[in-house]
Amino acid sequence: MIYLDNAATTIRKPDPVVEAVAGAMRSLGNAGRGVNHASLKASRNVFEVRELLAAFFHGTDPSRIAFTANSTESLNIAIKGTLKKGDHVISTVLEHNSVLRPLYEMEAKGVELTLLPADEYGMVEPEAFAKAIRKHTRAIICTHGSNLTGNLLDIKAIGRIAADHDLLFIVDASQTAGIFDIDVEQMKISILCFTGHKSMLGPQGTGGLYVREGVDVRPLLTGGSGIKTFQREHPADMPVALEAGTQNGHGIAGLGAAVDFINKTGMDVIRERELGLMWSFYRQVTDIDGLVVYGDFRWRLRCPIVTFNLGNCDSALVGDALSENYDISVRTGGHCAPLMHRALGTAGQGAVRVSFSYYNTEEEVSRTANALKELAEELL
Ligand code: ALA
Repeated sequence: MIYLDNAATTIRKPDPVVEAVAGAMRSLGNAGRGVNHASLKASRNVFEVRELLAAFFHGTDPSRIAFTANSTESLNIAIKGTLKKGDHVISTVLEHNSVLRPLYEMEAKGVELTLLPADEYGMVEPEAFAKAIRKHTRAIICTHGSNLTGNLLDIKAIGRIAADHDLLFIVDASQTAGIFDIDVEQMKISILCFTGHKSMLGPQGTGGLYVREGVDVRPLLTGGSGIKTFQREHPADMPVALEAGTQNGHGIAGLGAAVDFINKTGMDVIRERELGLMWSFYRQVTDIDGLVVYGDFRWRLRCPIVTFNLGNCDSALVGDALSENYDISVRTGGHCAPLMHRALGTAGQGAVRVSFSYYNTEEEVSRTANALKELAEELL
């Protein structure tokens, strides 16, 4: 199989990640829940991965990293745990439902929402955020990279605007963490939400958020914490404040090995490889008659994603043909980014998305481009 759905989840993980998960499953107790050897080993492992992640995102304090199951959970915590009735929030039409749906819920509770439109390239420029700020604006919440088009927002410039106006800046780094260097200090990010299973090359069921010192977040879940057992309220101390219940120690061990792999291999090396494959694919398919590519390809730096349609063909039909006739796996249909689909005019047709990882090859790129050439002749 040629797997090109890496923006959904990377299917191939580095060997040390697989070994770390298997090793953890054979040896780890419950982190933070006792002083037996197995529990202490788990606690040490979780602590070390927190340290690795804090350094990875240039955070100042590992205890400000809380583990979650994925970006969706992180974003729910960040959005529902900070906003309140009367707040105004600025976000964009690029967002995934993991941002939009929690925002809509908060809107129903009295939060005012401005969703910035995209331009013809599917981009939102930083100035648009500045212009939308009002007296009671509390937060800017946006994606770093669109899961549909692969476009990157300039989160450094947007962060500066947020900081200048004393706003919370919440970033969804689902598609970028692991391939783009994210510096929470330099980018003035208040809360960074990430997932472990995409470009970070870790296991599914891992992710987290970095919460800047001084930013208070109400927990989504309360319960077992391993500390302050006789207190009625869930402890407010980070990171347990946002980590009720047994942690995914096995997954966290894998995530640690994944970060280690990225650090050792070089994030730049990984990104350049993925971008090389993406640009090669882009060049090979853009001259196919009837193939329409979506997104901003004016800049070299973007997520390693190419999204397109073949004429008016239903995207699912193209995806099925790629899968059945060529054993090529891509994502089709709606991509959980409804407003971006509407902006692109693909709400009905959906779109075919090809997304690359470090483990794809030039041969896979050429075979996929050739398959599309054949399909275009057959279907259009
Ligand atoms: N959010 C993931 C995607 O874009 C699942 O495919």
